[in-house]
Amino acid sequence: MALPTTGSTTLIINGEKYPLSVDHRTTLLDALRERLDLTGTKKGCDQGQCGACTVLIDGRRSLSCLQLAVAADGREITTIEGVADGDQLHPVQQAFLDLDGYQCGYCTPGQICSALGVIEEHAAGWPSAVTADVRPEAGPSALTDEEIRERMSGNLCRCGAYVSIVRAVARAAASARTPESTEVQA
Ligand code: FES
Ligand code: FES
Repeated sequence: MALPTTGSTTLIINGEKYPLSVDHRTTLLDALRERLDLTGTKKGCDQGQCGACTVLIDGRRSLSCLQLAVAADGREITTIEGVADGDQLHPVQQAFLDLDGYQCGYCTPGQICSALGVIEEHAAGWPSAVTADVRPEAGPSALTDEEIRERMSGNLCRCGAYVSIVRAVARAAASARTPESTEVQA
């Protein structure tokens, strides 16, 4: 007896439900782009190496090219299309815009989704590979440029806009801590 190769799934994307019938092998990335026309999420390598396809699943960073759509059933997915609040850019988006955190822009949706995850992870006290002292009594590490580079290292930028990306993430993180510090710093 032939086993079924398609299944029903309901993706919850940016707060909206999308019932779909998909081939079990369909990645979340292909479901977003090819089935739902949510083309803000980019395909770079399609093998988990570039970060262009980064989305948030239940608030955590995830590479959508490595995630099967059926495995994302019922989970809360945030793509770049859902980051802004109407016409109001999210502070991370605004920081990338103000500080030129991009050139061609192809990697930018993934960079921004990843930056959202970085800021949350750091605020929650998660250490990174370059955190010098991970003992609980040491308290949270500062989000230094070195920390940002390490935490964003899964997101490649072929245009080499890294210096500006680090500045944008730093400013967005600072504005998340103290909302009044959102002015552009040269
Ligand atoms: S397209 Fe997913 S990591 Fe490159
Ligand atoms: S801005 Fe062009 S790849 Fe990053």
